[in-house]
Amino acid sequence: MKETFSNYREGYAALDLDAGFFRPDSILARDFSVLVAATQFKVHKGSQKCRWLDLMAGCGIRALRWGLEAAVTPIELKSSLKGFEIWVNDADFVRSSLIERNMKSLLEKEITLVLKSDLAEVLLAKAFIDKCFFDFVDLDCFGSPNHLIQPVIKALAFDGILMLSSTDARSPTGHDRLAAIRSLSASARTHPAAWEIAIRMQIASVARQAWLLGRGIEPLASFSDGGRAFRICVRLKKGLSEQEETQMGFVARCEKCGAQSAQPLVKLRDWENCNCQNGKKSLAINGPLWLGPLQSENFLVKTTKLQKELSIPILESSKKFIDRLKLDNGLPLFSWSSNELARRVPLDSPPPLEFWIKSLKAEGYNASRSAVVPGHFRTDAAVGELLRICKGKFIKGFN
Ligand SMILES: C[S@@+](CC[C@H](N)C(=O)[O-])C[C@H]1O[C@@H](n2cnc3c(N)ncnc32)[C@H](O)[C@@H]1O
Repeated sequence: MKETFSNYREGYAALDLDAGFFRPDSILARDFSVLVAATQFKVHKGSQKCRWLDLMAGCGIRALRWGLEAAVTPIELKSSLKGFEIWVNDADFVRSSLIERNMKSLLEKEITLVLKSDLAEVLLAKAFIDKCFFDFVDLDCFGSPNHLIQPVIKALAFDGILMLSSTDARSPTGHDRLAAIRSLSASARTHPAAWEIAIRMQIASVARQAWLLGRGIEPLASFSDGGRAFRICVRLKKGLSEQEETQMGFVARCEKCGAQSAQPLVKLRDWENCNCQNGKKSLAINGPLWLGPLQSENFLVKTTKLQKELSIPILESSKKFIDRLKLDNGLPLFSWSSNELARRVPLDSPPPLEFWIKSLKAEGYNASRSAVVPGHFRTDAAVGELLRICKGKFIKGFN
């Protein structure tokens, strides 16, 4: 029997912890998971069957918070919770009594709880055979989740939502190229926007498996907590959108001059020379990866509106983070580090992001702050233009 610690509090949840895995500082991902669940619950209006799965639940904190904070019905609709199920699973059987104890307060809400200690692979296979489909699955595993993506999609209802975490920070960021080939079937090279590249590769993995099953994807939100974990939230549609396949491709970066370019797989041809004397000899190519949007502004607006309406108890810092995501849908594709550009000018210290955004917009380019990589901005301007603008302002002063 593991030692337990009582009364950890997060959101409306009060629960026991044991010596098993739990990271209080992953609260942003749990806050976000609650908002996704609440948004979906509202769409279902409690009137239809709705089934959620916390597939690798640890102490059960996500499922508990979903039940307390997201499954909220007006008093007059109370009976509607009858068609609603929360499944909580963790393969570590030793934690099952802790999970059961932690879920007690949900029983008072008449939520149907299904507690399991199965290997995820087994639970998903059984669910598929039994035609028991989930509307929302949170898959928060150790390392890479890629071996579970197809089984999880098979167990997701049409338009179901998958929240997926990967703590494999080495392979998609170019620090273990062989592991990236094994896990992502991709070329992963170091890049100043490595967090974003990792996220785009993770979305590409989901897209590939979804497409094999004839399903389509819509990324709803994507972020990294400090480069330690990569989180994506994706809607699995019944079929592909028009030309969805054109969102899969490669990003190349010249390691000498920093120039970036991209090609969708559907139009793949030779890479063009960049303007430095290395031509294309120094290109580091990342992909296949997802070239499309990383966030759905529409979805994020709904989640934040609902958070206010229902006073869902997420941290102020989580609210601010989601507000920043709303302003950055992930396009234009190329993310630039102000530090890197300052070194290339060269300048002693990097210009502020506002400088870049204002100056680029004044010259007719798209430009916005990246919500995915700190200290980065996005633009469709080429590196030569960025350096020209920066040098010009450097001579005149950055005002
Ligand atoms: C990262 S922790 C989950 C943390 C939890 N979601 C939270 O928010 O605190 C991963 C959990 O997955 C469980 N696990 C590992 N492999 C599994 C598998 N194949 N099937 C089901 N659970 C598994 C572990 O016992 C562990 O509790």
